Amino acid sequence: MSQSLFDLSGAKALITGAGRGIGRTLAEGFAAAGADVAIADIDIEPAGEAKEAIENMGRKCALIQADVTDMESAERMVIEAAAALGGLTILVNNAGTNVRKTLWDISEADWDRILDLNLKSIFFITRRAGEEMKKAGGGKVINISSLMGWSVFRNPRQQCYGPYTSSKSGLIGLTRVFAREYATDNIQVNAICPTFIETELTASLQEDELIYDAICERTPMGRFGQMSELVGPAIFLASEASSLVTGTSLLVDGGWYAT
Ligand SMILES: NC(=O)c1ccc[n+]([C@@H]2O[C@H](COP(=O)([O-])OP(=O)(O)OC[C@H]3O[C@@H](n4cnc5c(N)ncnc54)[C@H](O)[C@@H]3O)[C@@H](O)[C@H]2O)c1
Repeated sequence: MSQSLFDLSGAKALITGAGRGIGRTLAEGFAAAGADVAIADIDIEPAGEAKEAIENMGRKCALIQADVTDMESAERMVIEAAAALGGLTILVNNAGTNVRKTLWDISEADWDRILDLNLKSIFFITRRAGEEMKKAGGGKVINISSLMGWSVFRNPRQQCYGPYTSSKSGLIGLTRVFAREYATDNIQVNAICPTFIETELTASLQEDELIYDAICERTPMGRFGQMSELVGPAIFLASEASSLVTGTSLLVDGGWYAT
């Protein structure tokens, strides 16, 4: 199989929530595969290093400060990314969060914050980005959902994933909706559903031995994932290699869902 199937040269990628964590790792991975990248984040300060690393690879990198839950800010983000990169062919909806509380401690504000960020914002961003992709003759949308969109895990501290699982399951559905909407526009829309990955978002889980051990025990491969282990699956879904793949959700879960 030719390497060029996975080549992202000429691609123009916008990644949300890429100031740190998984988004940042994907931004650097896409640049290494040949793409120019726009990094968007509500907190753009930490992204300076990523910009330098990407530019050192000979790729363009734009930093865009945006709150994706603010519709005006989100629309401006898409327009600015397309202007900076000279078009848009890849969108990674990565910005997302969780709350770690018990069933009765979760507030209405928690619910709204998680659903607004993890699900609602993605509908409006994808709709707007789709217009840029149509102008470019096609594109790829990758939604970062979660294993928790498929599976319910009640950890030993009784943390309830109600809003998180609802948002990530909803995102799997929204992925199918956009796949159908854009099926004849040469835009493929897919989701990645990672297991627990070592990032700042899961720092409290990694530090709590009871939870950490329970997760590792539940996972056939016996460990958390690394951010770098999401780069390959994302490049597959961002590249020509996945030209007939749309509306699917790719579990990257160390075998969790197989058992
Ligand atoms: N870490 C995991 O174990 C894991 C597992 C499955 C799925 N995911 C998903 O992967 C994505 C990234 O997770 P991560 O672990 O890298 O998280 P993270 O908290 O390390 O990074 C999230 C980034 O999103 C940004 N962000 C937050 N709110 C924003 C907003 N309103 N507008 C723009 N940017 C905003 C943050 O500033 C941060 O840079 C999330 O959608 C998460 O749900 C993570």
